Amino acid sequence: MKKKKIQKERKITKKEEKNKKIKKKIIIVIYKKKKYKLIAKSKKSILKIILENNINIPFSCKNGSCKSCIAKCLSGKVKEDKNGYMKKKSEYILTCISYVKKNNTIIKIE
Ligand code: FES
Repeated sequence: MKKKKIQKERKITKKEEKNKKIKKKIIIVIYKKKKYKLIAKSKKSILKIILENNINIPFSCKNGSCKSCIAKCLSGKVKEDKNGYMKKKSEYILTCISYVKKNNTIIKIE
């Protein structure tokens, strides 16, 4: 006798739905000649991800005005907030107001 497959139906909670929308990407951070491979969630700024991983990079204002968190995007894609101070086609970004848009993005903090 064959076992019947029982399909369970369950509702997707709001929290699970929200987690589905947040996509994770890998970001590689080069700081003081060391490479750090970090997981970036789409709704967190690069500075926040770096600080959560106990990497102490220079920063101050966290709103894009002091420019102490400047970094160079070597490959991949990063998007700055609409209030970004850096030129659109510049390879330099402010990590406190920038978000990872492409997997395996590499940034170098100078
Ligand atoms: S911390 Fe001031 S610009 Fe990023």
